[in-house]
Order: sequence, then C-alpha cells, then structure tokens
Amino acid sequence: MNQTISKAENYFLNTYNRYPIVLKSGEGVYLYDDAGKKYLDFAAGIGVFALGYQNKIYNEALKTQIDQLIHTSNLFYNKPSADAAEKFARVSGMEKVFFTNSGTEAIEGAIKIARKYYFNKTGSPEGEIIAMMHSFHGRSMGALAVTGQPKYQEAFGPMMPNIKFAQFNNLASVKEQINEKTCAILMETIQGEGGLYPATADFLIGVKKLCEEHDLLLMLDEIQCGMGRAGEMFAYQTYGVIPDVITAAKALGCGIPVGAFAAKGKAADVLEPGDHGTTYGYNPLAGAAVDVVLDIYEQTELLAHVKKVSYYLEDELNELVSDYSCVKERRGKGLMQALELDRPVKDIIAKTQELGLIIITAGSNVLRFLPPLVIEKKQIDEMISILKSSLDFVYNKDRN
Ligand SMILES: Cc1ncc(COP(=O)(O)O)c(C=O)c1O
Repeated sequence: MNQTISKAENYFLNTYNRYPIVLKSGEGVYLYDDAGKKYLDFAAGIGVFALGYQNKIYNEALKTQIDQLIHTSNLFYNKPSADAAEKFARVSGMEKVFFTNSGTEAIEGAIKIARKYYFNKTGSPEGEIIAMMHSFHGRSMGALAVTGQPKYQEAFGPMMPNIKFAQFNNLASVKEQINEKTCAILMETIQGEGGLYPATADFLIGVKKLCEEHDLLLMLDEIQCGMGRAGEMFAYQTYGVIPDVITAAKALGCGIPVGAFAAKGKAADVLEPGDHGTTYGYNPLAGAAVDVVLDIYEQTELLAHVKKVSYYLEDELNELVSDYSCVKERRGKGLMQALELDRPVKDIIAKTQELGLIIITAGSNVLRFLPPLVIEKKQIDEMISILKSSLDFVYNKDRN
C-alpha cells in the first residue's frame, strides 16, 4: 500500500472513508497525485478552491502576509481582516461580520445571534429555531443539532433543545412549526450534502415573508452555495431575498481555513463584548486571503464567467439525462450541480477517478459537480466525455 495512505490509516482518527489517492499538487483546474497522475477537478476540495490552483495573485498575497504577520489574537486590530470585513459587507449586503475558522463555527455564531435576539426580546433563553429536514450545517454540537439528518445525530445525543424541523420547499410545513417561542428560521439557500436541492423562489420568498410577519430572523447558510457558486456572490441574491444573518466559508478563503457569520439590521447589534470569541478568527493571514479572494473575483469578473459557463454545464448535464436511462434528473444552480441516478454512484466515482476525473457525491445515488469557478467550456467537455465513458463502462451502454 502507498506509504502515505498506510501512515494516515495508522494515525488518523478513523472518521473518514477516503479515496485511495494521495494528492500532491495542483495547477489551474487540475490536480496531480504523488505518482504524477493528472485529474480534472470537479470537486474543488468540496466547493473551496474557486480560483483554481496556483493563482499567482492569491499565492503572492498570502506569501507577503506570512512574511509580515500571521497571527495577532483579537486583543488587537489588524488591517487585512478589517479590509476583508469591509469588502465582505459590501458584496453580501450585511453590516457586521465575525470571521471564524470553519463553516460549522459560523453556524454556531448564527445560532447564538438567534438565541440572544429572543433573549433580548423576552428575557428568556428558550427561543426556538426552525431548521430544515435533509439539511447539513456542520459537525459541532450546535450545528449538528440544526442538521436535519438523524444519521449524523444518533450517537451524539442529547441534541441542543428548542430546534424544530420543517420540510424544505414546503411553506405550509414551516408555518406549522411557528409558535410564540420561534426566533429564527435557518436553511441552506441551496441544500448541498442533503442531495442538492435549490430553494424554490416561492419558498424562499414565502419564508422571508413569514419572518417579517412574526419578527423572526431569516438565517441563510451560504457555506457551500455562496461565494459565486450560484452565479451571484451569494445564492440569495439570485432570488432577490435579503436575509438577516448569513454564514459563509469554503471559497471565502479559497483554501485558507476561514468562515464568517454576518448580520444586518435588527440582527447586527445583538451580540456584545463577551458574547462570543475565538483565538484564530480575524487572523491576518485569513483576512489577507478573504481580501485577495474578493479582489480577484471583482477584477476577473468571475461571477459573469460563472453565469456563462454554468448554462453550458447545465445543457451538457441535461443531455446526459436524455441519453442515459439510469440518469434520472439534473438539479442545481450555477456551478453547483447534481445528477441523480437510479442506483448508487460508487462505481461511477471509482471509474471516473481511474480515468482522471474527480467528482463527489451528495447521497448514495447523486453525483455532485462543484468545479473551480474558473472552469472553461473545454474542461466541461472533457469532464462530460470521461463521465460518459464511465457510465458506458459501468452500466454496459445502458443508454436510452
Ligand atoms: C451548507 C454547509 N454548512 C456548513 C458546513 C460545515 O462547514 P465546515 O465543514 O467548514 O465546518 C458545510 C460543509 O460541507 C456545508 O456544506
């Protein structure tokens, strides 16, 4: 067995079933393993590396910051994180931002805003949050409690109380869960891990209206679908809905671990000194990453590129739905796409890897496509060609 794999298997906690590939380097939208094999990357480290590997401007900005100052703590200010916060507020429409170290921590922060909002209003800490079935918000205990997938919670109870679950894209189901204790509604604008389901416009607009009617905070998890993946900087901007609280991570730092929760209006001043903290959050290296990422998005007009190529990707994936009887449906928005098959996709994933393509799953029957946002049409063609060969091989040309 490959030495790195056997070392990792010996010493890593056994929480992952990893693919038997040791990645060593990257260039543009391609990754290379330790034997020099090339892979077209349609996963981007689960929606993280939006800019493509070895982006010179990004790498230089990080190197400069490393040579200047990597860490300060939050007892002091630093310019990169202040610049990053200003830009983040501008592109998101939020007013105040807290930088975290991961997505799950951003969710923890959003939950704390919701709870404190209710506490300030009523003097009681018992505010209820409505989250969605089949959602995914992370693995820390608060984020797990709002994740609507019992399989992740089962062994780790009791879960944080006062969380209710409604059906995603079913407004009546959300309405049913609202009572006098409800303080917030939390959902992914596009559900990712749970199978890749975009919110319908009627649903998201309806939920926003319910929040206004009942004085609830609308909290949108944009950790996977944000940062340009859906064609606007944040997926809610494609619906014209303005939330009170958002969470972001993944492509926010494009590889440097950083997340954010941000708030506006009545949610922006809920947390006060002493309410929340972190040693690493607002770290200048992470700040420099967010700052340069947002600059590159703007300077390269990346959102316009995403819109253009994603129509092409959608068309190509739709063709697979008509050509292959085993491919049931395409779902998604922008460069966050999925194909649902009528059977498990495990063998397809293995075959695509053998042929030099990396795609991931979103449930056992769903192939998920999250390429770097700089992906070009010719690389979409390359992906489709490998995927077709894999489908033909695994399903013996089981075409329509
Ligand atoms: C929608 C969503 N929320 C939260 C998370 C958790 O983020 P992290 O893995 O950075 O803690 C993820 C991770 O996949 C996610 O997709």
